[in-house]
Amino acid sequence: MTTITTTKEDLACYLNTPLPIGNKTIQNRMVLAPMAGLGHIALRELITEFGGFGLLFTGMCSARAVPHENPVLSNVFTWRQEELAFLVCQIFGSEPQSMALAARRIEAEGFFGVDLNFGCSVAAICKKGCGAALLKTPDLAAQIVNAVRQAVDCPVFVKFRTGWENNPQFAVDMAKRFEDAGADALTFHPRVAPDRRNRPPRWEIITRVNDAVSIPVFGNGNLFNNSDGIKMMDQTGCQGLSLGRMAVARPWIFAQWTKGFVPGNDIYHFTALRLTHLLCQHYDDHFAVKMFKKFAPYFCANFKFSQAILKKLIKGDTMAQICINIECLLKEAPETLATPNLTLFV
Ligand SMILES: Cc1cc2nc3c(=O)[nH]c(=O)nc-3n(C[C@H](O)[C@H](O)[C@H](O)COP(=O)(O)O)c2cc1C
Repeated sequence: MTTITTTKEDLACYLNTPLPIGNKTIQNRMVLAPMAGLGHIALRELITEFGGFGLLFTGMCSARAVPHENPVLSNVFTWRQEELAFLVCQIFGSEPQSMALAARRIEAEGFFGVDLNFGCSVAAICKKGCGAALLKTPDLAAQIVNAVRQAVDCPVFVKFRTGWENNPQFAVDMAKRFEDAGADALTFHPRVAPDRRNRPPRWEIITRVNDAVSIPVFGNGNLFNNSDGIKMMDQTGCQGLSLGRMAVARPWIFAQWTKGFVPGNDIYHFTALRLTHLLCQHYDDHFAVKMFKKFAPYFCANFKFSQAILKKLIKGDTMAQICINIECLLKEAPETLATPNLTLFV
């Protein structure tokens, strides 16, 4: 579908247009990108409370571990029953058979769908032949999609990057192969694999990928404010938007873009405090502190004196101390920036 979206209202209207994905339909095209260590059960619950999204994605889970993982004990492969209807579980792996087995468990648990990670360029993942390393072996990547397709009826997503070289045609060819192998939707992040978010993503490659396939393509990369959303939709014609870091910085961003939510002055204090409560509900104190400290740089990027506030906010080793920090630093709303301080968007 090609659209001309020019205003915030047009963007909201477009994002609220239903989108069929495989044998299901989502009512909203703005989704949370998969992020290991950030998109955990507590952040997802917070985002869900604000609302305004179509789907949430888990951080990547090991396909080898998923079939026998205990969600009560796992910090990663864990969810709330209430979110399953709009939650997609992302897996990484390098063997068609283990990816298929993991997908079966994910479908049996009742997730909306399964997402295959062909984009992660972290050395520890690529060394094992997983993530973006699979873009070096296109036949194997297609076999994995095919094996997962054969194993489940629920929607199968593939998240991938431009490849290992700056060659848009490679991304186009891969997109077609994923579609032919049975993928129901693609999330495309137009950066080469060695590039860890330091150069701008090449949105024009999203256009080419989107034009090459008939399944929905979610555009991803550097969506910071509504005008970026409008630009990406207009320039690329993509079917939906996938937001990563900005949804950590502003968990209410989906509600803001699609439901006209207007954050009040107390939004930062409220959000930080609510997240600490949810983290304590789902995790032990030590892990909750660890997750808060991962969240904090993105959140503090909203503030004018971001580095100084961050340093004070994460001081201490207990959630009790973090809550005191929040009261001291955020009770009165700090000065904010229209576009976050990207040096903290690691
Ligand atoms: C801390 C962090 C963890 C991430 N983990 C994953 C992951 O598990 N799986 C994945 O496909 N992408 C992962 N990504 C990439 C994001 O999904 C997304 O492609 C990237 O952040 C660009 O989108 P953005 O500009 O909206 O943040 C991660 C990104 C960050 C910052």
